[in-house]
Amino acid sequence: MRPVRAIVLAAGQGKRMKSNKPKVLHEVLGRAILSRVMDAVGAAAGTALGYEGLEHLHLVVGHSAEIVTDFVVSNPPPCPFSTHLQSPQLGTGHAVMQVMPALEGFEGTLIVTVGDAPVLQANTLAELLATHRQKKAVITALSTVVPDPKNYGRMVRDQEGKVRGIVEDKDASPGEKLINEVNTGIYCIEWPAAAAGLNSLSCDNKQKEYYLTDLVAWAYHAKLITETMILTDFREVCGINSRVELAEATVHLRDITASRLALESGVTIVDPSATWIAPEVSIGEETLILPGCYLVGNIEIGSNCQIGPFTVIKGVVKIGNNTTVNNSQVNNSVIGDGVKIGPYAHVREGNVIGDSSKVGNFVELKKAEIGHHTNVSHLSYVGDAVLGNHVNIGAGTLTANYDHLTKKKQRTIVNDGASTGCNSVLVAPVELGVEAVVGAGSVVTKAVPDGALAVARAKQVNVEGWSAKRKAGALAKS
Ligand code: UD1
Ligand code: CA
Repeated sequence: MRPVRAIVLAAGQGKRMKSNKPKVLHEVLGRAILSRVMDAVGAAAGTALGYEGLEHLHLVVGHSAEIVTDFVVSNPPPCPFSTHLQSPQLGTGHAVMQVMPALEGFEGTLIVTVGDAPVLQANTLAELLATHRQKKAVITALSTVVPDPKNYGRMVRDQEGKVRGIVEDKDASPGEKLINEVNTGIYCIEWPAAAAGLNSLSCDNKQKEYYLTDLVAWAYHAKLITETMILTDFREVCGINSRVELAEATVHLRDITASRLALESGVTIVDPSATWIAPEVSIGEETLILPGCYLVGNIEIGSNCQIGPFTVIKGVVKIGNNTTVNNSQVNNSVIGDGVKIGPYAHVREGNVIGDSSKVGNFVELKKAEIGHHTNVSHLSYVGDAVLGNHVNIGAGTLTANYDHLTKKKQRTIVNDGASTGCNSVLVAPVELGVEAVVGAGSVVTKAVPDGALAVARAKQVNVEGWSAKRKAGALAKS
């Protein structure tokens, strides 16, 4: 087993994003570009043949170093990591040089990758590692063929087809500019074998930068084994430099994810081009995803569910089997089996909804713990509440959960089998007993005992003959 570490380059500015946020912190399907890169690197090292998992991740920061560092500290990769400040930013080779002191004593393979290619798949990287290992190369570069090679480094090959160097767009001759096999900025590098090459880099080029790409020419001239792996689908490794490219990358990640779900998980996605599902979402067999869904986050959906159309699910969400979520919003909640949600429900954060329950149209839930076979069918707000099993919440029932005097959220408890009539207000803190019933239009401020009926509204008064009297009065005036 060969140890492996990763170096992720994220010191560049990303001017073309026209953003005050660092480029690598922009999100692709709900996850930062940088996190997606770190995910891929981590997963690849864990699965590549002949390698143990990622020993360490070195992140090179420069522009907005503090913001990027804070982000990584609060969203760490799944392995030990360190940040390395590159200031000023004198190129990709210079960026890697900043990590050299920390590589003292390390003997193994380095995955070096640009920090702005979020669609890179772990299996591609694992394959790159395996090729590198198998060919005993000192450097293996991942390349791809693009329709328009503009702005990319070109892979320049010798007569035998061996890559003898990478020439940056700005330094390329007219002939070299025609080459459309380009460098992705993703490599495997042997350490410490490549250290001498890194030390020998010069900035004698158009951009006056230390190019990491020159490592390939160094190895070629030193007669060391240099390899390339050509990736067929260039969209997987497109670096993001502008918001247009951010959108393109998002589309591509969407497509990869939809294909995987359809082919490997047995999920029917009616219109993949109108369905946005993040790669970390898992969905069970026979689940049907209707058009217009946006599912991003750590979401787990069971089998035989029907999601959509036009449904947004975000955050950490778990949905059981045979559940329907129609035209609704769901955040950070746990939903059981056979539940019916929507249309037009807003399931906000912190809800737990038991099996076979129903949350109907224009219902808002927040921190509601709901048992099984309970219905909140229409036009209700249930917040900071515990509803038991077989509870029926009538249309227009509201939990008045906020106490303006104490400025505290208060809890409502509705025990098994209880029900509320239409348009009732449960003023928290309050509890309805087992099988308690609240009459329509009640404002409940006191606990209702088990099995009791609570009516808390003004008594109805009927004034006999009132209409006739009114008419008579009006006629008299005219
Ligand atoms: C680089 C490659 C090019 C390749 C392309 C793929 C070099 C010299 N060129 O070019 O061959 O086709 O990526 O996308 O390597 N960075 C630093 N410090 C620096 C400069 C850059 O950390 O001083 C980081 C950036 O944050 C970015 C990555 O390195 O994540 C690539 O930098 P960028 O300026 O986008 O390089 P390209 O010109 O695109
Ligand atoms: Ca780039």
